Amino acid sequence: MEFTTIKFEKKAGYAIITLNRPDKLNALNNQLFTDLDNAIKVIELDTDIRALLLTGEGKAFAAGADIKELNACDGTTGKDFSAFGSKVMARLEALRIPVLAAVNGFALGGGCELAMACHIRYASTNAKMGQPEVNLGILPGYGGTQRLTRLVGVAKSMELNITGDMVGAEEAKRIGLVNEVYDESELIEKSIAFIEKVITKSPIAIAAIIDSVRSSTKLLLEDGLEYESQKFGEVCGSQDFKEGTLAFLEKRKANFIGK
Ligand code: COA
Repeated sequence: MEFTTIKFEKKAGYAIITLNRPDKLNALNNQLFTDLDNAIKVIELDTDIRALLLTGEGKAFAAGADIKELNACDGTTGKDFSAFGSKVMARLEALRIPVLAAVNGFALGGGCELAMACHIRYASTNAKMGQPEVNLGILPGYGGTQRLTRLVGVAKSMELNITGDMVGAEEAKRIGLVNEVYDESELIEKSIAFIEKVITKSPIAIAAIIDSVRSSTKLLLEDGLEYESQKFGEVCGSQDFKEGTLAFLEKRKANFIGK
C-alpha cells in the first residue's frame, strides 16, 4: 500500500510508522489520518506484526491537527472533523498488540492526543507536550479532555487544558503522561529495545492484558475483576499458556506461537 504522509516499515516481528510531514511539524491533516487508518488496517490483518512503534520525522512527533484545514470548519462540519481523527485514534488504541509512541519533539494538540492513544509513551528530553487548543478558541477534539484526564487526573488535566501550557519531558513523566524519558540520540534505540522485549511474549496473553487493562477505565472494580477472570480462563485454553508454564517447569525459555 502507498502512503504519502507517513512511512510504514515492516520489520522482523513489528512495524514502525513515522509521521512524515516534517516541514509542517507532522500536522495531522485529513490525508495523514487516512494514511494512518489504512496502515492500522494492514496491521490488524498481519499476525506477524506483534508490536507497533509510532514516531515523527524531524523535530516534532506532531504539532496537532492541521490548523489550515481546521480553519475551514464551521458549526456544521466541526463535529465530523473531530470524529474522524478521534475514530482513527480509537482504532489505534484498540490494536491488540503493544503500541509505543516515541515522542521525539513537539506533541501538541492532536499530537499529544495521538501519543495518548498509544499504550506506552517514551519521550526524548527535548519533547514538549500539551493541549494548546484553547489558544485557538476551541477545545481538544481527539480525546484531550478524556484520555489526559484518565492519565494525569482531573486537576492536572483541567490546568493543562485551560491554560494550553506545554510541559517538558521530565514534567510529563512526573505527572504520568509519559512512561520514560531518554536522550534524543537514544529514543529510538530504547523504543526498539522495548518492542523487541514484548514481541518475545505470548501475543495471546498480551492481547488479553491490553483488553483487560483498557477495561479498567470503563468498568466498576467488581465488573473489571470479573472481566479479568473471564480473560484468564480464555487464555488458560491456549497452547501458549501450556508452553509458558511447561517451559518454566523444564527450566527453559518459552517459545510462544500465538495459539
Ligand atoms: N497545523 C498546520 N501547520 C502547522 C502546525 C499545525 N498544527 N504546526 C506547525 N505548522 C507549520 C507552520 O505553519 C510552519 O509552516 P510554514 O513553514 O509553511 O510557515 C511549519 O509548520 C513550522 O512551524 P513553525 O511555527 O514555524 O515552527 P516553530 O518551531 O517556530 O514553532 C510550534 C513550533 C509547535 C510552537 C508552533 O508551530 C505551533 O504553535 N504550532 C501549533 C500548535 C497547536 O496549536 N496545535 C494544536 C492544533 S489543534
